[in-house]
Amino acid sequence: MIYFDNGATTFPKPNEVYDAIMTAMKDYGANPGRSGHKLAIRMGREIYETRELLAKLFNVDNPMNIIFTSNCTESLNLAIKGILNKGDHVITSSMEHNSVLRPLVSLEKEGVELTIVKANHMGKIEADEIAKYIKDNTKLIVITHVSNLTGTIMPIEEVGKIAKEKGIYFLVDAAQSAGVYDIDVKRMNIDMLAFPGHKGLLGPQGTGGLYIREGLSLKEIKQGGTGSFSHILEQPDIYPDRYETGTLNGPGIIGLGAGIKYILHRGIENIRKHEEELTKHFIEGLSKIDKVKIYGPLNEKEQGAVVSINIGDEDSSEISFILDERYNIEVRPGLHCAPLAHKTIGTFEQGVVRFSFGPFNTHDEIDMAINAIKEIAKEV
Ligand SMILES: Cc1ncc(COP(=O)(O)O)c(C=O)c1O
Repeated sequence: MIYFDNGATTFPKPNEVYDAIMTAMKDYGANPGRSGHKLAIRMGREIYETRELLAKLFNVDNPMNIIFTSNCTESLNLAIKGILNKGDHVITSSMEHNSVLRPLVSLEKEGVELTIVKANHMGKIEADEIAKYIKDNTKLIVITHVSNLTGTIMPIEEVGKIAKEKGIYFLVDAAQSAGVYDIDVKRMNIDMLAFPGHKGLLGPQGTGGLYIREGLSLKEIKQGGTGSFSHILEQPDIYPDRYETGTLNGPGIIGLGAGIKYILHRGIENIRKHEEELTKHFIEGLSKIDKVKIYGPLNEKEQGAVVSINIGDEDSSEISFILDERYNIEVRPGLHCAPLAHKTIGTFEQGVVRFSFGPFNTHDEIDMAINAIKEIAKEV
């Protein structure tokens, strides 16, 4: 079986991740931050280590500014709903995932003004284009770092610069980039960084996080037990407790920590280089096949390890079904929760067949996929 659906979630994970989760569950699976006994303290300490690893990865000074969530969607909801109020204006792009667009559209109904800047046919947005839409009441710019449809890498450093100059908050959706691309929240002027734990960071599903810049106060979207300040009925306003309500996914977070350790050990630049080479190899192979249309920048330096294609006019679900049934190649067809991105590149009706690579994919697998597509293209 060849797994090319790493954009949805990475698989497999490093063995260290499986081991860490198993040990956390079997050896010290207590509730952190609640009781004061040895097991609870150990769980709390190991969770803190993951916070520290994330802080190191994203150049965050204080690990307590990293909030654990259950996925990138929850992180984006917390950031977007925590900061925007009626009368505020927010700018985003047409390449966003529904986890950005749906919270924004729901806030639009409550009086938040929304501008969606259209990307070009390769999914690219220029920072200057975003700047054109800034108004007096613009409070937030939110964009994805890497498109989950075309892989296009967005100019987040330039957008961050503009946001800082204009005093606008900047939220980055790092769903497709965290763990593969360098992200430095200070250099890039990122005020909030939403990331999943289960994609490039190689942790298990059910993990994610949000970095919130020191001094930035968001409304919390959940209230409840935190194990701290239990004598008061309001949500405590210390970080991360204000936003981490209820029992955390301790074993998952510890597995995420093991994923990050793996990345740091292998080297984020080595992982990126490997994925760039796979992307290049795949694009080169596909461009020789008649009937295959490839979307996006078609350049591994301008895109993440995501390559979306179609074969003739064939429905993308049909192609994915054949790849799975006949060749054991696992990909994702359809709209990828990004309807406006599909409208931007003109694939809203047909969808696309998305191949997304991870650190454990190989060049042999790429060759097998190219051959499979060659055979399918002859039939349709
Ligand atoms: C660009 C982008 N943003 C957000 C998400 C949502 O991530 P999660 O599934 O962790 O909620 C995804 C998931 O594929 C994505 O690709």
